[in-house]
Amino acid sequence: MPSHDGPPEAFDSAYRLLSTAVTPRPIGWISTTSEAGVDNLAPYSFFNVVAVDPPVVMFAPVGSSDLKDTPRNVRETEQFVVNVVTRDLVEQMNATSATLGPEKSEFDHVGIERAESVVVDPPRVAAAKIAFECELREWIEVGGSVLVLGEVVHAHVDESVLTEGNVDIDKLDTVGRLAGSQYASTAERFSLDRPSRPLFK
Ligand SMILES: Cc1cc2nc3c(=O)[nH]c(=O)nc-3n(C[C@H](O)[C@H](O)[C@H](O)COP(=O)(O)O)c2cc1C
Repeated sequence: MPSHDGPPEAFDSAYRLLSTAVTPRPIGWISTTSEAGVDNLAPYSFFNVVAVDPPVVMFAPVGSSDLKDTPRNVRETEQFVVNVVTRDLVEQMNATSATLGPEKSEFDHVGIERAESVVVDPPRVAAAKIAFECELREWIEVGGSVLVLGEVVHAHVDESVLTEGNVDIDKLDTVGRLAGSQYASTAERFSLDRPSRPLFK
């Protein structure tokens, strides 16, 4: 079968190649507060879990010569909240990706209700079914990007997504990012049995 091989720069755009192939990606909807006290909210799909003991998540701002508001706020305050994006919140999430100046809050610009966090200062999205309050654990510069690692210090889980005390994927309906403006919900799914394995792997 013919193939198109080469280093990433041999393709039209390494961003396009990587972000189309690594799909669907979960979306961390990150709230932060600037030193000046402005609450910021923006989606980051270069996002994932890194460790469970301790519980650590990551997100990566890319593609801008100036630091975006979210990483700048995290660098200043060492705190952020990850709000989980579900199907009912996807339009609001998308609206918060608008480029606003650091003096403007996406919460107010889009009309998103805040809820107070317990341990950290940045608010969470009141309507998010799950939110993780995080403290900065590591800041790793990778070329023009940053890998931001945050330790989860408090979790909020809405009762409505629980079944017998566990988060129920049938009730959560998370959304993943595909390429460009395409997204995938979890509406159509299938399951596969895995070979026997230790827990977490
Ligand atoms: C679904 C979605 C996912 C995104 N993921 C990322 C990402 O992983 N990294 C990034 O730098 N920008 C990402 N963006 C773009 C940022 O959200 C956008 O640049 C935003 O203005 C940054 O806001 P901030 O300056 O308030 O942090 C994404 C946008 C959308 C809509």
